[in-house]
Amino acid sequence: MRNTLIAPLCAVLLCCTSARAADIAAGKEKAELCVGCHGEGGISQMENIPSLAAQPDLFIQWQLVFFRAGARKNEQMQPIVEQLNNDDIRNLGAYFASLEPPKNAKPDDDPDLSIKGAQAAAGRRCASCHTDSYAGTRAVARVAGQREEYLVKALHDYKSGVRSGGGMAAMADVAYPLSEEEIEALAHYLAHL
Ligand code: HEC
Ligand code: HEC
Repeated sequence: MRNTLIAPLCAVLLCCTSARAADIAAGKEKAELCVGCHGEGGISQMENIPSLAAQPDLFIQWQLVFFRAGARKNEQMQPIVEQLNNDDIRNLGAYFASLEPPKNAKPDDDPDLSIKGAQAAAGRRCASCHTDSYAGTRAVARVAGQREEYLVKALHDYKSGVRSGGGMAAMADVAYPLSEEEIEALAHYLAHL
């Protein structure tokens, strides 16, 4: 089911990424639709809404395509993606990727939990895909500095199968065996990077 949905979308995305250069200024203009939820400069101040600043271009594009196709479901994102064409998606990807990443303003209130999270991340080889700085690359999300409660939500969504992701369903396999303690420690560690 998922593959039949995604295959034609790959073709759309691949054809169009090479066709024309993305326009960051146009992306910024379109991003006025997003500020109310994802925050100024792509840094979210709202619970369960992810920051988008400095996410890899392709990660942003893919998630928008998944929402638009219904492969990723969210009531708040649904009406938004209905207003986006392929050019908008490319421009938004380029715009958000160009922003400064979230800086952690809050000090780490539980360094022991961060140590546990770092150990879990090493044991589970999270950096092998997310890169050593956890800034992400291509279709792999930046997780460094993301909101903590959103990281917990995302890991639960993969674990329960609510969110399946693209590619080889990498995160479903990764999240399935994670314990609740690991999820909390990982989210705390990554949010404070
Ligand atoms: C009404 C609030 C709202 C608006 C407006 C909105 N979003 Fe979102 N967006 C959300 C929520 C909530 C999520 C988290 C969905 C989930 O939990 O799976 C999300 C998730 C995303 C994601 C996935 C990010 C990730 O880390 O997984 C992307 C990309 C995204 N939004 C882009 C946009 C763009 C681009 C716009 C403007 C064109 C926009 N959003 C406007 C609420 C909103
Ligand atoms: C095999 C490669 C791979 C490994 C290993 C991996 N990830 Fe991921 N991760 C991905 C990809 C690809 C995505 C984007 C998936 C999608 O499209 O939903 C992702 C997405 C995520 C997201 C969602 C981010 C967002 O903004 O929506 C979180 C959180 C995450 N990974 C955490 C982890 C943690 C924690 C580990 C280690 C326990 C880990 N990942 C290991 C490839 C990987």
